[in-house]
Amino acid sequence: MKKYIAITLLLLTNNSVAIDLDIGEEINEVCAGCHGEYAEGGKDGEYPRLAGLPIKYLEKELRLFKSHERLNHPMVPYTKERELPEEDLLNVSAYINRIKLYSKLPPIIDKDNFNAYERLLLSERLLNIARIDGDYAGGKLIYNNECKSCHGQNGEGKEKKDIPFLAGQYSKYLLKQINAYQSGERVHDEEASSDSIFIGYSSTDLNNLLAYISLLDDK
Ligand code: HEC
Ligand code: HEC
Repeated sequence: MKKYIAITLLLLTNNSVAIDLDIGEEINEVCAGCHGEYAEGGKDGEYPRLAGLPIKYLEKELRLFKSHERLNHPMVPYTKERELPEEDLLNVSAYINRIKLYSKLPPIIDKDNFNAYERLLLSERLLNIARIDGDYAGGKLIYNNECKSCHGQNGEGKEKKDIPFLAGQYSKYLLKQINAYQSGERVHDEEASSDSIFIGYSSTDLNNLLAYISLLDDK
């Protein structure tokens, strides 16, 4: 028992020494050129939203970019070892993981103490994915049968299992990733042989699936 406690403490100390959120914030200024100041992404998903992605997922993807196992030309210059050594990779991932975005502004309850500036700051962190037309019920059926177990009831992902959210991510970006999984350019989930799940879908199925997911961040 004693031994166990000692090991846990060591890990905690290691973590707190290694992570520097101020450095993470500085590095994020470079990323912001494409992904936005609040890592909210942009250009309708040409640059994905990063804010709030699971920390280990962010780290893993950045390592995959560095090693070119995940191909992404725009990011190549920013993920070279000299630009983004492991230490910085950890710091920026921790910083981005903690950024909170909102899918809608909270209602104004206290009208007398309304603070326009605070409201403006909040609105900068607003990201609501545009609804796509489609057969929502059909999309929901596929989502619940094939995706929910990993990506969560409402597409929120699973921080503890390093699984990214799908709700609140740009539809165009999601489609591009699904196509990359279909072609084998990207590996979906190493543990489960889940890559085959994308093979059987028609473009209508995928549209319905993305249409359903585009509703999930409205909740
Ligand atoms: C020149 C533009 C550009 C810059 C600068 C940039 N990125 Fe990206 N990033 C992209 C593009 C484009 C993609 C989408 C790649 C794709 O479609 O697969 C992306 C994807 C990502 C992803 C994958 C997201 C996901 O959901 O899997 C992560 C993580 C990421 N970037 C982190 C960063 C970090 C951290 C920095 C700063 C060190 C950074 N990026 C700088 C363009 C950029
Ligand atoms: C067995 C668990 C599992 C199932 C089931 C699953 N996923 Fe995933 N998914 C993952 C994991 C893990 C990742 C992260 C993969 C990586 O590291 O690149 C992921 C990543 C993704 C991404 C990339 C997200 C990003 O930010 O780049 C998309 C899109 C995606 N999944 C869509 C789906 C859809 C749609 C379904 C249902 C048809 C589905 N997944 C079913 C585990 C799963």
